[in-house]
Amino acid sequence: MSVSVTTMYRLLRSVLVLAASAAALRLPSHAQTRHNPNTCELLNTNMPGRVIFPTDPAYSAAQSSYYAGQARNMHPGCIFMPRNTEDVSQFIKTVRVRTGWDAKFAVRGGGHTLWRGAANIDDGITVDMRLINGTTLNADKSIASLGAGGRFGAVYHALKPHNLTVLGGRVPSIGVGGFLTSGGMTFLSRKEGFACDHVISYEIVLASGDVVNVTKTSHPDLWLALKGGIGNYGIVTRFDVATHPDPGMWYDLVQYNHTDAVLEAQARAFSSFMTPGNNFDPDAMMGIFYDYAGGQFFVRDALWHTGAVANPPVYNNFTSIPNMGSNGQVLPVADVVDQFGANIPPSTPRAFQLDWSFINPPAEIYMEIFQLFKNGVPALADVPGFFVEFLTQPQSVIQPGTESLFGLENNRTDYAMMLMTAAYANPADDQRVRDGITEIVRSMRGLLRRNRYLIDFVYANYADQTQGVYQSWGADNRAKLQAASIKYDPDRIFQTRASGGLKVF
Ligand SMILES: Cc1cc2nc3c(=O)[nH]c(=O)nc-3n(C[C@H](O)[C@H](O)[C@H](O)COP(=O)(O)OP(=O)(O)OC[C@H]3O[C@@H](n4cnc5c(N)ncnc54)[C@H](O)[C@@H]3O)c2cc1C
Ligand SMILES: *[C@@H]1O[C@H](CO)[C@@H](O)[C@H](O)[C@H]1NC(C)=O
Ligand SMILES: *[C@@H]1O[C@H](CO)[C@@H](O)[C@H](O)[C@H]1NC(C)=O
Ligand SMILES: *[C@@H]1O[C@H](CO)[C@@H](O)[C@H](O)[C@H]1NC(C)=O
Ligand SMILES: *[C@@H]1O[C@H](CO)[C@@H](O)[C@H](O)[C@H]1NC(C)=O
Ligand SMILES: *[C@@H]1O[C@H](CO)[C@@H](O)[C@H](O)[C@H]1NC(C)=O
Ligand SMILES: *[C@@H]1O[C@H](CO)[C@@H](O)[C@H](O)[C@H]1NC(C)=O
Repeated sequence: MSVSVTTMYRLLRSVLVLAASAAALRLPSHAQTRHNPNTCELLNTNMPGRVIFPTDPAYSAAQSSYYAGQARNMHPGCIFMPRNTEDVSQFIKTVRVRTGWDAKFAVRGGGHTLWRGAANIDDGITVDMRLINGTTLNADKSIASLGAGGRFGAVYHALKPHNLTVLGGRVPSIGVGGFLTSGGMTFLSRKEGFACDHVISYEIVLASGDVVNVTKTSHPDLWLALKGGIGNYGIVTRFDVATHPDPGMWYDLVQYNHTDAVLEAQARAFSSFMTPGNNFDPDAMMGIFYDYAGGQFFVRDALWHTGAVANPPVYNNFTSIPNMGSNGQVLPVADVVDQFGANIPPSTPRAFQLDWSFINPPAEIYMEIFQLFKNGVPALADVPGFFVEFLTQPQSVIQPGTESLFGLENNRTDYAMMLMTAAYANPADDQRVRDGITEIVRSMRGLLRRNRYLIDFVYANYADQTQGVYQSWGADNRAKLQAASIKYDPDRIFQTRASGGLKVF
């Protein structure tokens, strides 16, 4: 019974999809558009060379460059590629007064959000920011201006000759736009907090089409809301961020056998590492990767030290666990990111991810969580292409005096975060993987909650859209996010026309 209902649903859905694409094909037809051009055509007339239509080879190239299949499989009516801030402003001024099928839009940076519709759209227009990608330094090199469509691999390489770095992604392909508007956990985050706390100025195109430079003093409410506010307030075209010295970063990836003894030792080492006062080293950022692939488990620690210290003693409790050896090196950040990135799949056919944050519990609780993973995840082993990355990492330490809407305490060193990412081959398994992973995570969160370690905060960058990110920051903070939306986007353009990402309402 349920099988035939599912089959009927699928049939019905494909009929609807066919009907929808037939409609989409009819709409832009030349005869109709001569006197009533659609928005894509209007943009193409006013700004020649910026609009990519589905028949252009550049369209499929842009589509295939998203990280996850959920984003790749969407079909915008056209892609708008601005070359500068003025193009973005003209785009907004054009689209905001339109009403047709393509008056909705999505904004795309590096294209790394895993869920459908965050940075791409069906019908509508995808604003692909990737041509706005420069990295420039001011005269005294204290500030780097980053084009919002850049990727951190290129940013780090541009700063490498100056022995400088910025707080950015740990994989080369991460986009500047999404990372910096969502938060940003990085190598320097135990010392400096979230990357968004280092943005000095945002150049943004508001819903009116006006371009403004947003600083803490010029627009305090918008400046604060942009720390995590993603696409709710406009399209950011440039970020001016603080630079930091890069004396070289030590990086090691240490692999262990998957045994209970190893898991217990990892649990003890991590709980101890996260205990306030216990050898806290602000240059030390790390993560335990407990992965499952091809029916097998893998335990690896990624260890970083931004102070150019090789084999820093702060990691002794990890590296003294029997392991397969290590080959840590001190390299410029740009090169570490290239190396680390080479260990992460360059894209995924389908993906589902959840994250959650908590206060460091005792080792026994970490061990129980590891057991929940070990016992839970094999139930999904027969899902084609199934792979899970389960990452336990310290959360950013927010510097004293920092203003933020995350609802976290500043200067706390004992916030930790977990994220579980499943990748798999086929859309047919979307629901099964979502349900299976959600159930495992529910039991882990329940354990942390019962023992009073779970916190409300959900970190935006790794969250699924169903996790209630903005609700999790607390009612007062969400009210501030909403007030900034009402003030700077009174016509609700970014709530209703660009409705795909996380929304503050
Ligand atoms: C392999 C991998 C590694 C990762 N590593 C890290 C990590 O080390 N630390 C960490 O914190 N996170 C990490 N992430 C998460 C990552 O930070 C988020 O996915 C982030 O949103 C990616 O930004 P993007 O520009 O690539 O993505 P996109 O999907 O293009 O954009 C993300 C969101 O931001 C919006 N947006 C993009 N540009 C703009 C703009 N200019 N103006 C307004 N809105 C905009 C989009 O509309 C979208 O809703 C990782 C993700 C992956 C897949
Ligand atoms: C960066 O932008 C320039 C033009 O501004 C473009 O030629 C180049 O291809 C872009 N780089 C990427 C990686 O998209
Ligand atoms: C960067 O550091 C290296 C190694 O310490 C040094 O040789 C080089 O001169 C530095 N470059 C700059 C621009 O400071
Ligand atoms: C924003 O700041 C930049 C760099 O200082 C400047 O060139 C630009 O004119 C400013 N834009 C506006 C709208 O003030
Ligand atoms: C290692 O763990 C022990 C006990 O768990 C702790 O006392 C010690 O400080 C830790 N060492 C380091 C370098 O963190
Ligand atoms: C890992 O397991 C293999 C196979 O059992 C064993 O030969 C090897 O010595 C173990 N390595 C470590 C570091 O425990
Ligand atoms: C921040 O925490 C550190 C370490 O616990 C402490 O020494 C320092 O005084 C704290 N700073 C503030 C401003 O609370």
